[in-house]
Amino acid sequence: MSDTQPHDSRADASTTRKGHGARYLFVFLLGLVIGVLGVVMLMRSLESRKDWSDHYPDAAMRMMQAHSARMGEAIEANRCAATDILPHLQALRVVSNDLEPAFPDLRDDARFTEHARLLRATLDDALGSPPLNCESATATSENIGEACKACHQDFRG
Ligand code: HEC
Repeated sequence: MSDTQPHDSRADASTTRKGHGARYLFVFLLGLVIGVLGVVMLMRSLESRKDWSDHYPDAAMRMMQAHSARMGEAIEANRCAATDILPHLQALRVVSNDLEPAFPDLRDDARFTEHARLLRATLDDALGSPPLNCESATATSENIGEACKACHQDFRG
């Protein structure tokens, strides 16, 4: 094929540059996707290497959070019979035994064990004279919330 047209080198250069631009963008986006996938895989493998003792503190706290929240919902819905409130108090009381074993680094800290003791004492009081209406259930729930907060103020980073 013979080239009869005068060669327009400027047009050539600009198409080449445009071609490179698209290729760079593609490589950049590919790199980004591979990078993101790499980070996700790394995080998943780190997560799967955790054992029960790594999850223990979080699990204990989430369990107490769940029962506090469900008790709050029962009160909101005006369901404050003993059968509505007691199971949550019992669950909270059982899990509150796990505070020291779940946080082995803190179990020798006198302030930590004192906060744990106070939460258990609050729950023991509530179980000893269970709330029978929403007013006393609200008061109980607030006392429990205070006990949670007291420890969090000192120990939750
Ligand atoms: C004796 C101390 C103590 C008491 C009492 C306590 N907590 Fe905690 N809680 C902690 C500590 C310490 C952390 C931070 C855990 C961490 O970062 O690993 C925490 C974290 C949490 C978290 C966040 C969990 C997470 O992994 O982000 C929730 C939710 C929580 N607590 C709920 C509660 C509830 C609800 C109560 C009361 C029924 C309560 N806690 C009572 C010490 C306590």
